[in-house]
Amino acid sequence: MQVRVANVSKNYAGMAALADVSLTVGSGELVALLGPSGSGKTTLLRTIAGLETPDTGIVYFNDRDASEKRIQDRGVGFVFQHYALFRHMRVMDNIAFGLRARRKNRPKESDIRQKVMELLDLVQLSGLEKRFPSQLSGGQRQRVALARALAIEPSVLLLDEPFGALDARVRKDLRRWLRELHERTGHTTLFVTHDQEEALELADRVVVMNKGQIEQSATPDEIYDTPATPFVFSFIGESSVIPVTIGNGRATLDERVIDLDVGALPDGPAQLYLRPEDVEMVTDGGPGIPGLVVSTRRIGGMRRVTIECGLARHRIEFDASAELSIQNSQRVQVRIIGGRVYGAGQEGYATEKLAASATADFKWAKAEGWLDR
Ligand SMILES: Nc1ncnc2c1ncn2[C@@H]1O[C@H](COP(=O)(O)OP(=O)(O)O)[C@@H](O)[C@H]1O
Ligand SMILES: [Mg+2]
Repeated sequence: MQVRVANVSKNYAGMAALADVSLTVGSGELVALLGPSGSGKTTLLRTIAGLETPDTGIVYFNDRDASEKRIQDRGVGFVFQHYALFRHMRVMDNIAFGLRARRKNRPKESDIRQKVMELLDLVQLSGLEKRFPSQLSGGQRQRVALARALAIEPSVLLLDEPFGALDARVRKDLRRWLRELHERTGHTTLFVTHDQEEALELADRVVVMNKGQIEQSATPDEIYDTPATPFVFSFIGESSVIPVTIGNGRATLDERVIDLDVGALPDGPAQLYLRPEDVEMVTDGGPGIPGLVVSTRRIGGMRRVTIECGLARHRIEFDASAELSIQNSQRVQVRIIGGRVYGAGQEGYATEKLAASATADFKWAKAEGWLDR
């Protein structure tokens, strides 16, 4: 089943929860909706499910206007973050609920039982069918919720932060498990999360939302490597942002030319976005941007270093080898080897491994006020 959202808007008390959102989820695709709290993820999911009616726009299921169908006939399985399983019902009865509640096409009780057993096997909870929800862990409960959503053989599976309430370790396990489950069952699935790691690891495609709009819809690699907007860049992974000025095809940082390729970006103010791996410390005496180390901390096998540079003490974070001895207040030089520049109109340009060569000279930096301490 393909789901197509066409120009959907939804306002609450004059505030746009969804502003002209268009999105197609292909049959069998696993798509993650990623965005900060309040960006409209839940509203979009509920609109697809038919729990909300859009102010304008249409949701299509396989080219049919879904609003022609009643909610219960849309064939949507929904799992919420805090899915209240029926507490007084055993696991098996929770899973069977949707089938038993059918008015038409209700299967025979023996078929329902068999289906429940198959689903328990699928979500790896065989043997726990007689337990009550209170006798299960959080992760097990969410798997019951998923089995319950799958019982009605939905054509679309909608998951709203299904692992949001669980601890990091359990989330990680369930993430892998859900990916495997999807590979086996192939349901068209829309998965909401505010956790970028979860989205990038799990989904075929990631849709990044911000303020009721889609900022970018692309594969996890594209989202990470070529973020379409400054928002996507800073939402995914860690980033330092440095204001630069573009003029005559060159970028300047505090009036000092830095040797960055800025493509065809228009003259004027721009922002240079850098991830920790886009910056390296100059250890060979070559040119670089001078800066002062203000903090270092150990992250796994690397050392995360923060420096301040330029007149306005812009902060840049980068990773250095843990073997290098780097102290606070030390003067270092860094070279930019990646990152993106975004112009005023937010068009982006990859800065493609071009060395920044402000100067190699601390004396200069001191005289210019770049290093006044
Ligand atoms: N029933 C509602 N009544 C009023 N405002 C709502 C309602 N549901 C959502 N909103 C508002 O719409 C915006 C988007 O909310 P939501 O879709 O829940 O975001 P997300 O799931 O990304 O956190 C928020 O500003 C939220 O406060
Ligand atoms: Mg939400």
